[in-house]
Amino acid sequence: MGTAVVIGANRGIGLGFARQYLEEGYEVIATYRDESKLDAETTLSDGNKESLAHLKRVYGKKITLYKLEITDTEAVSKFAKTIEKIDLLILNAGIKGYPISGTRPLDHTLEHLSNSLKVNTQAPDNIVRSFYPILTKSPNACVIYMSSLVGRTADNESGGYHPYRIAKAASNALIWNWSIELMLDWKKRNPQNLTNTPCAVAICPGWVRTDMGGQSARLSITESVSAMRKVIDYVRKTKKSNGLYMHDGSVAEKYPVTDVLKEVFEAKAKQKVDLATVLKDIVSKKW
Ligand SMILES: NC(=O)c1ccc[n+]([C@@H]2O[C@H](COP(=O)([O-])OP(=O)(O)OC[C@H]3O[C@@H](n4cnc5c(N)ncnc54)[C@H](OP(=O)(O)O)[C@@H]3O)[C@@H](O)[C@H]2O)c1
Repeated sequence: MGTAVVIGANRGIGLGFARQYLEEGYEVIATYRDESKLDAETTLSDGNKESLAHLKRVYGKKITLYKLEITDTEAVSKFAKTIEKIDLLILNAGIKGYPISGTRPLDHTLEHLSNSLKVNTQAPDNIVRSFYPILTKSPNACVIYMSSLVGRTADNESGGYHPYRIAKAASNALIWNWSIELMLDWKKRNPQNLTNTPCAVAICPGWVRTDMGGQSARLSITESVSAMRKVIDYVRKTKKSNGLYMHDGSVAEKYPVTDVLKEVFEAKAKQKVDLATVLKDIVSKKW
């Protein structure tokens, strides 16, 4: 089926991704930070709890658990070198970054902003950089970043949440940049096979019941992850990575179609024509 690397998979949305991709038949490489928390359960949906330790017991060799602090650049580089094959790289680990004492900019220090950028933006950047050699050799591989609608400048009516908002906004630009980069690299190496280019996309999971989202949130982890898996499939097939997606497939922010993306779309369209021609040939031979 494929290999999915889920960064920050011991609880919350990351655990939901690990479980659903295992159920789908993927091999999953799941990262965590603290082995003493591997047994801790997350409620994925009503009456449905899960833990990484339980997934390991059920799925055995289909899941590899890897201890990783994402801000440790050397550890990330070492981790990337252990991966031989990749289809999905899910950049899920993240923090709110603002203090519990308040969400307004004056409640924050420069350290809050700096820490949020370190975990939510710089670390994902470094992870993609470390995986770059394998991503560029993996047809249809996709990097998925767990973003947030609050990183969309046009949606900012309330202010506040400064460290989180700014880090997610920067990461949206970052992921789009990596997508262009991956496609340009692929084009150089595989000019005749643009339709299989790897790409990267940012998706907002919606407001989800996790430690971060709180228990009043609208969606269960299962609902959010099931919906996002469809978006991921869609983006991998169409290569329409030029936007910030919502979990339900709506596009919260659209980016222009760059030259390389235009070429990819043209190659995709041609592929459809070619397929039609092949079908016509087969039908005309009355097979
Ligand atoms: N929940 C929502 O409503 C919502 C909405 C929009 C976007 N998101 C985004 O979705 C992603 C997952 O959110 P969630 O709600 O599932 O959060 P969560 O329940 O708080 O889980 C966060 C995950 O990130 C890991 N993590 C944090 N800092 C890390 C670090 N420095 N190194 C390695 N792992 C680290 C945590 O590991 P530990 O257990 O070791 O701390 C945990 O596995 C985040 O990027 C978040 O910004 C969530």
